[in-house]
Amino acid sequence: MLDVSGLDKHFGGLHAVKNLSFTVGEREIVGLIGPNGAGKTTVFGLLSGFLRPDAGQVIFRGRSITGLPPHRVNALGLARTFQIVRPFPHLTVLRNVTVGALGRHAAPAAATQRALAVLNEVGLAAKRDQPAASLTLAERKRLELARALATEPTLLLLDEVMAGLNATETERIVDLVGAINRRGVAVLLIEHVMRAVMSLSQRIVVLNYGELIAEGRPEAVANDPRVIEAYLGTASA
Ligand SMILES: Nc1ncnc2c1ncn2[C@@H]1O[C@H](COP(=O)(O)OP(=O)(O)OP(=O)(O)O)[C@@H](O)[C@H]1O
Ligand SMILES: [Mg+2]
Repeated sequence: MLDVSGLDKHFGGLHAVKNLSFTVGEREIVGLIGPNGAGKTTVFGLLSGFLRPDAGQVIFRGRSITGLPPHRVNALGLARTFQIVRPFPHLTVLRNVTVGALGRHAAPAAATQRALAVLNEVGLAAKRDQPAASLTLAERKRLELARALATEPTLLLLDEVMAGLNATETERIVDLVGAINRRGVAVLLIEHVMRAVMSLSQRIVVLNYGELIAEGRPEAVANDPRVIEAYLGTASA
């Protein structure tokens, strides 16, 4: 469903993503992990059209989306969340999600219906009339997820939707991501919460300094010496 090849991105003198290739299959959950600054969020920017790659190709469902602007990529069925959540703070929860649904449903009533269905799915229906700014962090993370889901993606890119949550809230998001996946949505998941990413992902891609250093099943990746060293820094010393 997603085929990334030779992706490259520089920010001035910083080589943030280096010749990166990987795939995400239909209905698959793939984890994208790596230490802080490894280039994970930059990869999401490149896939979703917020950043232009210096080189490489992104094929989504058989067509090149390389260099397309975000709204075109989204219309094709690829949606992302942002690590730093960015709702419209003064709009209600329902309005925030309706904005996402308007891309698929031009009629406001239909968009509102879709938004309500998504709010039910993520467990925020009771908060629909509250301003987004009034939500807790855990609720704002679920709102960010709802805004992406409202665009009816077939591939969902989730950037640290569990960061800062307690164990119970994390478990709720893990269950939710699993349920979304079971209704047919493929997921590429950036996450530092290892237990969550290991339990959800069928496959894991590991970045370090912009480079893919390991890829495979969660248990194999977790025991890979290069991965352990990347996380510990000086494991070999
Ligand atoms: N727009 C930008 N301009 C310049 N440098 C950037 C930009 N975005 C990211 N960087 C740099 O690129 C590198 C990769 O950043 P990125 O945010 O992709 O890492 P990350 O793996 O998502 O890290 P984290 O786990 O902390 O979220 C970092 O060194 C970062 O400072
Ligand atoms: Mg990041």
